[in-house]
Amino acid sequence: MRKLSIAIDGPAGAGKSSVSKILAARLGYAYLDTGAMYRAVTYEVLSKGIFDEIEIVLMINKIDKDAMLVFVDGEDVTPFLRTADVSAHVSWVSAMAGVRRAMVKIQRKQAEKGGIVLDGRDIGTTVLPNADVKIFLTASAHTRAIRRCMELAAAGQDVTPEGIEEDIEKRDYQDSHRAVSPLRQADDAVLLDNGDLTLEETADAIISICREKFPGFDA
Ligand code: CDP
Ligand code: CDP
Repeated sequence: MRKLSIAIDGPAGAGKSSVSKILAARLGYAYLDTGAMYRAVTYEVLSKGIFDEIEIVLMINKIDKDAMLVFVDGEDVTPFLRTADVSAHVSWVSAMAGVRRAMVKIQRKQAEKGGIVLDGRDIGTTVLPNADVKIFLTASAHTRAIRRCMELAAAGQDVTPEGIEEDIEKRDYQDSHRAVSPLRQADDAVLLDNGDLTLEETADAIISICREKFPGFDA
């Protein structure tokens, strides 16, 4: 059976990138973390002080998303993608129409051969409206905040669950209410609430969804 394209969208901390990595490894597929691309642009905007949309779009062509790492103009920016400063500004950068156009073009090119898992906010609605399988992955804001808080605390950041919950609710609101490609469940996406599931159980559930839709699917 041909290799599928799998789109995973949803709000912050739903487990999209962790589950996508597990799926890609199990299926031998590529993985594209589109959020890391928007974060890399935001890091450059903040560190280089580039605020003009045309200049930001020109910079996008210097992004190189290689497996789990992100380079901009040859510099590995991966360690800086999850700082509080980048998280606080990424929704603003991502709302720019020119930025989205340039990103979507790169993402479609990467996905054109199939055999790929992409995660983000607009994969099922805009980047790959014909994706073979679309999942809208979610959990309550409280659960997502606790997960993200544990992750950031383990990485040495000084965070509280309340502060993180406020941050992710604000970002989810901005991402869901922007004019271009807002975060929303595609009409043909399967809603999966993984509040009570582990990452492995979530990956199993997505593989079952693939099998239901494509009986010859072999994982
Ligand atoms: O991991 P987390 O869910 O916190 O965020 P992310 O997936 O790294 O995405 C960071 C931000 O990038 C989101 O809050 C969106 O503003 C933006 N984004 C987007 O607009 N479209 C995408 N396809 C992916 C991310
Ligand atoms: O990419 P997204 O923002 O949707 O979420 P993530 O970065 O993959 O997951 C956020 C955190 O929640 C990570 O530390 C995951 O290990 C954790 N998580 C979990 O423990 N159980 C789940 N079912 C989903 C996520």
